[in-house]
Amino acid sequence: MIYLDHHATTPMDPIVRDAMLPYFSEHFANPGSSSHEAGRVVAQHVDEATHTVARAIGASADEIVFTSGATESINLALFGTVLHPREKRRQIISVVTEHRATLDPLQRLQKQDREVVLIPVAPQSSTTPGVIDLNQLQEHLSEQTALVSVMLANNEIGTLQPLTQIAELCARYGVPLHCDAAQAVGRIPVDVNALNVDLLSFSAHKFYGPKGVGGLYVRRRPRSTRLYAQIVGGGQQHNLRSGTLNAPGIIGMAAALSLSISRMDNDLRHSQALRDRLWNGLQKVIPGILLNGPDLARSDQRLVGNLNCAFPGVEGQSLMLAVPELCVSSGSACTSAEPHPSHVLMSLGLDEGRVRSSLRFGVGRFNREAEIDLAIQLLSEGYHKLVKMG
Ligand SMILES: Cc1ncc(COP(=O)(O)O)c(C=O)c1O
Repeated sequence: MIYLDHHATTPMDPIVRDAMLPYFSEHFANPGSSSHEAGRVVAQHVDEATHTVARAIGASADEIVFTSGATESINLALFGTVLHPREKRRQIISVVTEHRATLDPLQRLQKQDREVVLIPVAPQSSTTPGVIDLNQLQEHLSEQTALVSVMLANNEIGTLQPLTQIAELCARYGVPLHCDAAQAVGRIPVDVNALNVDLLSFSAHKFYGPKGVGGLYVRRRPRSTRLYAQIVGGGQQHNLRSGTLNAPGIIGMAAALSLSISRMDNDLRHSQALRDRLWNGLQKVIPGILLNGPDLARSDQRLVGNLNCAFPGVEGQSLMLAVPELCVSSGSACTSAEPHPSHVLMSLGLDEGRVRSSLRFGVGRFNREAEIDLAIQLLSEGYHKLVKMG
C-alpha cells in the first residue's frame, strides 16, 4: 500500500502514540476530578498540553476550546456566533470552495432565515486559481454581516487564502472572522495574531495526531469573541463546550503539534521534493496531464504537499480502481462517497469531464522516493490500460 492521501488524514506518529499511552492506563482519571490526586495529576498534564497547543498558534491557553475535530470546531464557530441570542446581524459570508464542514452548517443557517453569501474564487485560467475574489468580499461586507468564514488552506487543491487581507476588510466593519485551518495547522506556520482572526479551527489527525480531537481558538484579547455554547452540561472549558475532557487525545494533539513545529522546515522540504518528483514523473508518462489549482512553484499560494491533476480521457474513479495499491482520492474524503463532481474543481471553471478525470494526492512525512516512483509506474500502467480499453 502506498499512502498518498495526507489531506484526508495522516498516520499517527509513533512518538505521539507513546505520549498518549499512559493516559489510557495509569493516568485514566477524569481531569475534572479535583477531589483526588489522580484527577489533579491528569488535569495538570492537560493544562500543560493546553499551553503547548495555544503557544503553537500564538494564542493563550484560555483561548483554546477542545473539541472532537475540525467539523465540531467549525460548527461551534458558525452556530455559536451567528445564533448567539444577542446577535442581530443576519448575514454570513464564506467562499464557494469551503469544506462541507462549513458549507453544510451554512445551509442550515440559511434555513433559519440567515442570508448566506458564498464568494467565488479566481478561475484555473488566472494566475491565482482558487483564491477568493477580495473585491466581491468587500462589496458584500456591511454592518449586517455577523461572520466571515474562510479556510486557510484548501483540502483539494491546496490553495492558501490571503487571510491577513481578509482580516483587514473584516476589521473595517467590526465583523468577526473564522478560519478553517484544518489543512494548515501543523503543516505551515499559523499564528492567530499575524492572521488577525477571531476564531480558528484545527484537527489533530491532520498533523500526525489522533483522530477524534481538535480545537477551536476563540479570541479573548484585545477584543473578545462572543460565542454561544452548542454542547451544554458539566460546564467544562469555560462553559463553551461541556463534557469530560479527552485527556489522551488532548495530550496526543499537543505532542503531535510540538513535533510538527519542531520539524516543520524538514517536513516542508521533504513534501515539496516528493510532490515535485511525483508531478515531474507523471508528466513524462501521462500525455496531456493537466494541473488543477495554483502553480506548484508558488508555495505562497499552495500547500507544498498537494497535487491535483486531470488524467485526460479516463475517470479518476476508474483509475483508482485500476491501481488498488494506491491510496489517493478523487475529492475530499468526506465527500468521496458522493457521485457529484468536486465542487472545488467545478468552481475553478473546469469542465465536468476534466473534473471527473482528476485525482488528489497529498504526500507526507513518512513517504519515500521509492514509493513515489512506484506510484508513478502503477498510475502509468493503470492509465494506459484504461485508455486501451476505451
Ligand atoms: C479543510 C477541512 N476542514 C474541515 C475538515 C473536517 O475535519 P475533521 O475530520 O477533524 O472533522 C477537514 C477534513 O477533512 C478539512 O480538510
